[in-house]
Amino acid sequence: MAKVAQARSPYAVLVRSSAKSLRFCLSPTTRWAGRMLRTIQPIRLPDWYTRQFGLLSPARTGSTSRKSLLSPVLLIAAIIAIAAVAGCSTELAPRDTHATISDSGNISSFFYKMLLYVDIVIGVAVFGFLAVAIVRFRRAAGDDSLPPQNHGDARLELIWTAIPTVIVVVITIPMLVGLFQLAKHPDQNQKIIEIDVTGKQWWWDFTYKSGTANGLQTANEVHVEANTAVVMNMTSSDVIHAWWIPRLTGKRDATPGRTYPLYFTPLEPGIYDGQCAELCGASHAVMGTKLFVHPPAKEVEVEYAGKKYTLDSYETWAREQMASSVAPATPELEKGAKLFRDKTCPACHLVKGLEGAESAGQSVTTGPNLTHVGSRMTIAANTLLNTPQNLAKWIQDPQAVKPGAKMTKIAMTPDEAAAIAAYLTSLK
Ligand code: CUA
Repeated sequence: MAKVAQARSPYAVLVRSSAKSLRFCLSPTTRWAGRMLRTIQPIRLPDWYTRQFGLLSPARTGSTSRKSLLSPVLLIAAIIAIAAVAGCSTELAPRDTHATISDSGNISSFFYKMLLYVDIVIGVAVFGFLAVAIVRFRRAAGDDSLPPQNHGDARLELIWTAIPTVIVVVITIPMLVGLFQLAKHPDQNQKIIEIDVTGKQWWWDFTYKSGTANGLQTANEVHVEANTAVVMNMTSSDVIHAWWIPRLTGKRDATPGRTYPLYFTPLEPGIYDGQCAELCGASHAVMGTKLFVHPPAKEVEVEYAGKKYTLDSYETWAREQMASSVAPATPELEKGAKLFRDKTCPACHLVKGLEGAESAGQSVTTGPNLTHVGSRMTIAANTLLNTPQNLAKWIQDPQAVKPGAKMTKIAMTPDEAAAIAAYLTSLK
């Protein structure tokens, strides 16, 4: 009984452990801040502060060292370290949220810039006042007297309530307008490309619901048309993923059991990379996606990762993709197609038109639809370039490329993998 009476409530334990960890985190920071203060100007820190954080007050040690902790070497090392971890690449496939290429991306980018500029003004004002206060009102040497003490100043309190209120109102109004614009379904009277998007561990399934491509199922690489509104219905069949093409627009969660819409109108033809933005398991980092924005009419040349590519019109692409796969044209390709069937690949992958393998009802969605896999730029969810060598490597040991992938390792010789890869490459 006594034990029960003494047992601490869970709240007490929570508060105690939080206070402990807070002190643990603060301790090195405050110690460092204390040292910095002392290096700027020899000051006497309050006794409770020195006791708490294990500092010796200069009054006791007599230390008046002015040696700065921020030596130039440390500063340069810090800058190099920050640059290194940033891992920026502007040449290879820029994933820049500022260089947006859609109407909704431009709205998000406007939010960012507006907040940034407002924050810069606030930051300069606050730190400016702080610097003036530190310099002008610093304690004179030998002066231990207390400054005049103030309690309650209605005028000051009004000022520091009114200014933040005005700032919040000024940034809230355009943001609310923008949020409503982002959530608005495009006008039904215009051409709309509607796509059902399903996130899967670890790839994206796209099923087109409108226009020439109605019924088309493809994977990982999604194709749309410039200046045409796109409606994406986002869901997941396993865990939560997030579809994100940084240059296009913001992230949208793909959540099992729910469907969320994403609306955008791409404005510039081109090829844009994306990345799943929600930790979704072992191969989250290799769950990429690619967006192709086709021109509305005739083909155009676009640059991607330092190379030139020609993009057909969206309608041309859609018509080609709606066709069944081409039959294997050579004995080598025939061998590859046979191996594709014999190694039970069609249990998970649909190849529309492949004799003896076309799935009943054409609704296999365990793995990507491979009817036109040869026309894709990448394989394994934007992880490897689509070359026969990479395809063979992927087929032979998927786990080496994508740990935990549902595609199991099926026993085959390198020659067999190469034959299957050659057949799949022919499926343009
Ligand atoms: Cu899917 Cu992270």
